[in-house]
Amino acid sequence: MEIVIANKSHIVYADIICKTIAEAAQVRGTGIAKREPEYVAAKMENGNAVIALEGDKFAGFCYIEAWGHGKFVANSGLIVHPDFRNLGLAKQIKEVIFKHSRTKFPDAKVFSITTGLAVMKLNSDLGYKPVTFSELTDDQSFWKGCQTCKNYDVLTRTEQKMCLCTGMLFDPKNNNKTASKEVKENVFKRLKNIKQNLFLKKDKK
Ligand SMILES: CC(C)(COP(=O)(O)OP(=O)(O)OC[C@H]1O[C@@H](n2cnc3c(N)ncnc32)[C@H](O)[C@@H]1OP(=O)(O)O)[C@@H](O)C(=O)NCCC(=O)NCCS
Repeated sequence: MEIVIANKSHIVYADIICKTIAEAAQVRGTGIAKREPEYVAAKMENGNAVIALEGDKFAGFCYIEAWGHGKFVANSGLIVHPDFRNLGLAKQIKEVIFKHSRTKFPDAKVFSITTGLAVMKLNSDLGYKPVTFSELTDDQSFWKGCQTCKNYDVLTRTEQKMCLCTGMLFDPKNNNKTASKEVKENVFKRLKNIKQNLFLKKDKK
């Protein structure tokens, strides 16, 4: 498996990346925004993405976004092709993209919003802590990205204070390496259930 910083030569994979993200969104039904091939291609061209390939087969992808004039960085669009899941690939991709983000934007806070337990675990391993949305970027172009998520109405109903996603933040200034990085799986599951009951009540039959 090859995991590299993507470049122009990888643009041929932009379509399959977006298709794999769209299929995952359909299966999961929540918390994954749509991405367009042109957007993914631009990330590759600018050296702001990581791609994993097995030979010439697409295996995984993630990209960097900078917000609030580079004060915040997000590692977004993490996707592992179903043929390569549960092999530790997402963990490796996240490590490479996180290191790359820290090199390109050493002073930026790195954040993530996610409903996925796998991503919460990966973020915790890298030193992210759960935070309220108010600690994340207020750059509206970031939050606009949520418009294609099916839970967007929840975000607007709460005036962007909370949603089904959990916000997580790595702050280079308080990077306390000794703090426990262990994710309390039950706590996250309970939190997710509470949020679903609170916000998706209408959908229940
Ligand atoms: C989520 C996803 C990226 C994980 O990729 P992966 O390569 O299978 O993950 P890894 O094998 O590296 O596993 C990383 C950790 O997450 C855990 N994990 C993986 N899939 C999981 C799942 N569905 N539920 C809970 N935990 C999961 C693993 O056990 C592992 O934990 P550990 O380090 O404690 O052993 C992949 O399933 C995927 O692309 N899903 C669809 C898109 C998606 O949900 N993206 C995230 C958007 S927020």
